[in-house]
Amino acid sequence: MVSPSAVLAHTAQEYQARPSLALSAEQVELRDGLLDHPAHIDPKFLYDALGSSLFTAITQLPEYYPTRCEAEIFERHGQDIARHIGPVQSMIDLGAGDCVKAERLFASLRPRHYVPIDISADYLETAVRRLRLSYPDLRVTAIGQDFSQALALPAEIPAEQRLFFYPGSSIGNLSPDDAHAMLQRIRAQCDGGGLLVGVDRVKPRQVLEPAYDDALHLTAAFNLNLLRHVNQVLDADFNVDDWRHVALFNAARSRIEMHLEAQRALRVAWPGGTRDFSAGERIHTENSYKFTPQAFSDLLQSAGYRDVAHWSDSRGWFSVFSARA
Ligand code: AVJ
Repeated sequence: MVSPSAVLAHTAQEYQARPSLALSAEQVELRDGLLDHPAHIDPKFLYDALGSSLFTAITQLPEYYPTRCEAEIFERHGQDIARHIGPVQSMIDLGAGDCVKAERLFASLRPRHYVPIDISADYLETAVRRLRLSYPDLRVTAIGQDFSQALALPAEIPAEQRLFFYPGSSIGNLSPDDAHAMLQRIRAQCDGGGLLVGVDRVKPRQVLEPAYDDALHLTAAFNLNLLRHVNQVLDADFNVDDWRHVALFNAARSRIEMHLEAQRALRVAWPGGTRDFSAGERIHTENSYKFTPQAFSDLLQSAGYRDVAHWSDSRGWFSVFSARA
């Protein structure tokens, strides 16, 4: 009988010796995040098939206001927004998910070509099959890609009149520096085109925190599911029961933070490594930045956009920005 540590050492050697067992970029990213102090996991790992379904369920919770606020804005100001944007050749949907948000805008924006991009390729495929049936005249090019590092569009998408659609306050997941870089990267891809982006606003903690820590614990399940996904990708041995969901508003940094907190001292192992956690130690899993309209206008302008306009819901909880590249 070999001891568990001998098995790990053997596996680690195999990883070094055989290129076919080399770590993927995703595995390296996960490992490095787990070994950091404090540990962190990128929120993109929240979106495996189950995670994407859980997020869709979250958007239906009474506490999770952003999706409904944004829908209200598109419903009440859709014509105004469409006028500000002008003609659209292709609509490039960043983080399309179930594609439902873009679909609601097809009637007013009238894109010829729809290009949904999402890291969860399986989830996207199901959505796209449905769209193709409903809109036989619309060209659809689905791209299963992580656009957080680079944004490359296939040549079949004409350079003219591109509209980048980045709804749901997904840009809030990025640090201010990364958001600025992302906005610049988008602008570089849509000269003469535009950007339509949803942004969640700063508001009292009493509203923000329940949106990320709901009574049905769906957000807890969404956050904890990340550990199952990491187990799959890294072949790690996280025991979900040992962890607790934590969500808090960090007012100084204007962001909701999600963490997973170890409920006891424990060790997590994967082929080639381990990480010890003490009781109460956390893994940082997501930031969700909240903006004032002024702060987000400034960010767009500093990334080179012009003609910045925005619309808000009746409570002033969420804003949609349209800007020209
Ligand atoms: C999809 C990134 C916009 O930050 O509100 C929902 C993700 N996290 N509940 C958000 C999320 C926890 C969501 N975004």
